[in-house]
Amino acid sequence: MERTLSIIKPDAVAKNVVGKILTRFEDAGLRVATTKKIQLSQADAEAFYAVHKERGFFADLVSFMISGPVVVSVLEGENAMAKNRELMGATNPKDAVAGTIRADFADSIDANAVHGSDSLENAEIEINFFFAQREIF
Ligand code: CMP
Repeated sequence: MERTLSIIKPDAVAKNVVGKILTRFEDAGLRVATTKKIQLSQADAEAFYAVHKERGFFADLVSFMISGPVVVSVLEGENAMAKNRELMGATNPKDAVAGTIRADFADSIDANAVHGSDSLENAEIEINFFFAQREIF
């Protein structure tokens, strides 16, 4: 069983599609092991995306991620990391295959509805960033 981290970003939370997105995970055989809605601080967002701090899009990414609450979840299941990435679709919604979360709910490369861990190593780091072990069931 794998675990991966999902973030439903401020654009999708504002569109009131949290339930629709979580249902896609469940319908694909993933289990929501834990979830919560939180407002990230500037320091939270900068720390979470520290790997991108030298990129030109970093400031816009951080300001978007603190523009409203997000829903963070741990998804569990067989091949959870890859399955979640397949369900999300390409980072840029313009390139996302029809029927993926980003194709259906995202507006732009920053307001792209969801984030998902891109490796098992990062999944563990990202899960630990948001959750204590006693919160994951
Ligand atoms: P996410 O999976 O959350 O990881 C980093 C985010 O940076 C990405 O989704 C996009 O929302 C955002 N981003 C903005 N511009 C780019 C870019 N050129 N390449 C990759 N990610 C970008």
